[in-house]
Amino acid sequence: MADSYISVNGKRKLYGTVSVQGAKNSALPCLTACLMCDKGSCCIRGCPHLSDVENTIEILERLGCRCSFDESGHSAMVCAENAFGCEVEPEMMNKMRSSVLFMGAILSRMGEASVSYPGGCELGARPIDIHLGAFRKLGVKIAEDGGILHCSIPSELRPCSVSLLCPSVGATENIMLLMAKSNGETVIRNAAREPEIVDLQNLLNAMGAKIKGAGSDIIVIEGVSSLRGAEFCVMPDRIAALTYMAGAAACGGEIELKNINMEHIAICSAVLRDMGAVIRRCEGGAVLTMKQRPKAVKTIKTLCYPGFPTDAQPVFMSAMTVADGTTVFIESIFDNRFRHAAELNKLGADIDVNMCQATVRGREYLSGADIRAYDLRGGAAMVIGGLIAEGTTRIRGISHIERGYEDIVRDFGDLGGDIRIII
Ligand code: UD1
Repeated sequence: MADSYISVNGKRKLYGTVSVQGAKNSALPCLTACLMCDKGSCCIRGCPHLSDVENTIEILERLGCRCSFDESGHSAMVCAENAFGCEVEPEMMNKMRSSVLFMGAILSRMGEASVSYPGGCELGARPIDIHLGAFRKLGVKIAEDGGILHCSIPSELRPCSVSLLCPSVGATENIMLLMAKSNGETVIRNAAREPEIVDLQNLLNAMGAKIKGAGSDIIVIEGVSSLRGAEFCVMPDRIAALTYMAGAAACGGEIELKNINMEHIAICSAVLRDMGAVIRRCEGGAVLTMKQRPKAVKTIKTLCYPGFPTDAQPVFMSAMTVADGTTVFIESIFDNRFRHAAELNKLGADIDVNMCQATVRGREYLSGADIRAYDLRGGAAMVIGGLIAEGTTRIRGISHIERGYEDIVRDFGDLGGDIRIII
């Protein structure tokens, strides 16, 4: 609801257990891939309950797929046998960045697709030139008319080697979707190496595709002629896990995380340890203990995987607002991803932003104020700011947060935070 907000009374230590949701950034491409299945149904387990997942399902249904969830609400069944649509309306494309993957999936299934430019969080310019350049090279004709991209495959796809100008996650996934069904071998060079891409490869291979190399910077796709139904479980959400870990590192306490893959968060765990946290693996998860004020870390620079993820930058920035010392954040993936800094300053943080660099001078404490989420991960950073701050913090703009967190209020509440949603 438009006027809903999150209210947090901060300055409590966090203790308890949280089960990490399935990864949004894996569930969305996997659900999109289900459209490409000519025979049978796909079952995607571990889907988080999110507005982005609902929107993806709505697009699939509008394209003629039959979709349903099991009782848990976490397993999506998608039957694309009778899919017929070629078009995603701009209003749906606008809702999330990952909608751009429908370009590859619809083209693969129907041979033509009409989509507009995708929406998603405003983090600066987010062009799709790398997607379009690769698609053209692979035999797709693209004509733009009033913001709508009309894509078609005039004769047939032309598998070949494509080198990406930068390792774009979305472009790598889009090419995998487009070329899984084709006649020949496609090689993606300078591919993104994010673990969500390994998930997509594994799902597509379970559907009958022949793809290898995901997780490295060279992916080889040997085209197949058809894809069948498959069952797949998405990986744990590494950014959601890092949100709870950053929260506990900032507030102190001890939290246990279930459903977490420690390999996916190795760099961030090293940063958390430098901050003073103790992290140990336990059966089925990990435990983070923080007994001291966080220590600043000299520089945190966002990079492609396996470097420090840009999506974790905002929540770590919140934690560093009360660190002992100064931390410099360098954002090298997106050119406008510091909107949360000004909001954190409203809580008394001391952050200076200069272009792609933010200098955070740690304060002893923050105090509650009215603040706003402007994007998904910036919104999670606001919640952590509220948990740190003395007094009451009210966070508006929570629809941004709902795009990526199943229930951040429930989860931080389970960890002992005094947090609720006011409708
Ligand atoms: C994905 C993630 C997002 C994450 C990002 C970087 C999903 C749904 N979203 O987004 O959460 O923050 O990876 O890890 O998985 N670029 C171009 N031209 C293109 C494509 C990208 O210049 O055609 C640039 C972007 O502007 C950005 C950089 O490449 O500066 C990385 O973007 P990309 O990896 O494509 O991110 P997304 O797939 O949009």
